Amino acid sequence: MLIEPVIKGVVARTAHPEGCKKAVQNQIDFAKSKNSIVGGAKKVLILGASSGFGLASRIALTFGGSAADTIGVSFERGPSDKGVGTAGWYNNIYFREAAEKEGRIAKNFVGDAFSPAVRQQVVDYIRDEFGGQVDLVVYSLATGVRPNPETGEMWRSCLKTVGEPFAGQTVNIEKDCLEESVLEPASQADIEATEKVMGGEDWQEWIQFLLDQDVMAKGAKTVAYSYIGPEVTYPIYHHGTLGIAKKHLHATSDVLNEQLASIGGTAHVSVCKALVTKASVFIPAFSPYILCLFKVMKQHGLHEGCIEQMQRMFSEHLYGAEQTVVDSNRLIRVDDWELRADIQAEVAKLMEQVTSENFTEIGDYQGYKQEFLELNGFALNGVDYQQGTDVEALKALQP
Ligand code: NAI
Ligand code: NA
Repeated sequence: MLIEPVIKGVVARTAHPEGCKKAVQNQIDFAKSKNSIVGGAKKVLILGASSGFGLASRIALTFGGSAADTIGVSFERGPSDKGVGTAGWYNNIYFREAAEKEGRIAKNFVGDAFSPAVRQQVVDYIRDEFGGQVDLVVYSLATGVRPNPETGEMWRSCLKTVGEPFAGQTVNIEKDCLEESVLEPASQADIEATEKVMGGEDWQEWIQFLLDQDVMAKGAKTVAYSYIGPEVTYPIYHHGTLGIAKKHLHATSDVLNEQLASIGGTAHVSVCKALVTKASVFIPAFSPYILCLFKVMKQHGLHEGCIEQMQRMFSEHLYGAEQTVVDSNRLIRVDDWELRADIQAEVAKLMEQVTSENFTEIGDYQGYKQEFLELNGFALNGVDYQQGTDVEALKALQP
């Protein structure tokens, strides 16, 4: 069977397994070429390991100098009669194969990270087969829903403003156009639900559980990921529902940092650069900014993808130095290049010019779309897309 990209709006409905393998391998090659993480973790649990920053963390820690064994938890779908499955499903498999080839453990749990059953399975595995403890927990979940354990109902996060509505333009990748969109102001219930889904509560519950079960090693660290962005995007992100959830995440890192002090450990949030991931393409009205940002950062040779960000974060901030390198709010800042004054000044100039007619020239739409396609295993150099895929053979692959 030939697998073609099928895109609906900003959602890819198909994924190309061989292309996913190649994309994972490209990240592995980058991490190996750097080999720069000194004194890093050896036994790592990654929540949200199958794509984006979580996958890049896993690759950096295994191949970028730390030679870590990893446990990855993710929510993905394998091949069935309905389709070939998700990109993250194949990322898990091909990462594990590559790691095992180098003698590393790479255990995948595919299930709901919010469920007590999955937590227990992970702890049992750490105890029985992973040496008993972990020395780093990466929290990189991105999702729209979280079950309320008391009612069984779902909390649903939303992308809304707080206060005034905000009108802007959003890329439609399916139709290669910019569409007018309006972010509506959130209700108090919207704000609370978004905080439940994307704030720090579940991170805290995980760490508490791992501590209670005595599977956090002496000196263990934990890190979660956040975004702040420049002021032009504050109404959309930092001052909107997601930003409020992120502030909760930041506050949680301080709580966890105190808690982990009892075992000589630390908790941090790393503020990252705006990037194309399965999660980020959903943010309405953010497109003009990210298209102009990519253009300017590439012109300055400062553009990074997930793997570049994570390799730099682990080697220069979380490990390597005597103490974790943070700002005055105790945040790790690998969004430093994005927020450089000269970069932002140029981005602001371009944003003034962007229209729905010229966005493919003023902004880096080609690069943006290319990264989106690559996330799903398409448009990668060195993959023969005319070669058919044997879906039956894929069904035999286990996570
Ligand atoms: P992503 O969509 O690429 O990855 C999300 C991961 O979470 C996947 O592995 C997915 O399988 C997993 N997941 C989702 N729901 C799950 C569930 N119920 N149980 C188990 N696994 C589940 O997202 P991305 O962009 O890597 O986001 C990770 C973090 O990085 C988020 O906190 C996000 O806010 C943050 N971030 C993202 C930026 C961006 O531009 N993409 C910028 C800065 C921070
Ligand atoms: Na992730």
